[in-house]
Amino acid sequence: MSVQKKNFKRITTNVLQEMKRDGEKISMLTAYDFTMAKMVDAAGIDIILVGDSASNVMAGHETTLPITLDQMIYHASSVIRAIYRALVVVDLPFGTYQGNSKEALNSAIRVMKESGAHSVKLEGGAEIIESIERILTAGIPVMGHLGLTPQSIYKFGTYTVRANEEAEANKLIEDAKLLEKAGCFAIVLEKVPADLGEKVAKSLKIPVIGIGAGGQVDGQVLVTHDLLGMTHEFNPRFLRRYLSLYEQITDAIKSYVKDVKTADFPNEKEQY
Ligand code: KIV
Repeated sequence: MSVQKKNFKRITTNVLQEMKRDGEKISMLTAYDFTMAKMVDAAGIDIILVGDSASNVMAGHETTLPITLDQMIYHASSVIRAIYRALVVVDLPFGTYQGNSKEALNSAIRVMKESGAHSVKLEGGAEIIESIERILTAGIPVMGHLGLTPQSIYKFGTYTVRANEEAEANKLIEDAKLLEKAGCFAIVLEKVPADLGEKVAKSLKIPVIGIGAGGQVDGQVLVTHDLLGMTHEFNPRFLRRYLSLYEQITDAIKSYVKDVKTADFPNEKEQY
């Protein structure tokens, strides 16, 4: 008999709209594998993002560009097997939705069918609106992503704050309205000035979830490995670390190596 998932209140896109309406902040974190997703879900997170940041965090690539649709589906299906409550959003990777709405729909359908995820996330505004609209026609919920969009890193040339200039800020506001009008259920807003984050959140009915977008948006997202201090060379201003796991894990492993080398492990109780 399978686990009774129906005993748990599940987060849906409607629940997220209610949270925005009621002024309840939305919590969102990344997960790419079963074990981490289980802990993140058990802790009561609202949204789990199977981010294409897996390309950096799990595979060690410099950018998010190399990760493939098959790899995202693998990560997403591992996460889905772990969760009871959170809404799971999966990034469509670079090259699987830009410039071809039919391909975008096929990519989104593959994610939904093969991983069992609940929604997809795409980076960009007006330039990908046809892809977003086409995915929505299949009844697949779409989360937008504006501001710093890491799949466009070679266009930006740098990971610094976006939309400091008025023209870019105005385009971002227009894009956010476009995404809402098209039917996106939420938008991630990455690395923009806090007053712009507030302005975007106030001008939309759908939730705006920030990462480096200030405290006046409707929710916050971080990469779990950063929050836990498993990655220790990445130190943006927006990151709050809750643990120093890099040091704790390497210390634990050093102790294990020492115990093996000195024949302290296993002891009598640890053998048959
Ligand atoms: O891929 C990712 O982890 C993301 C978050 C940074 C929002 O898109």
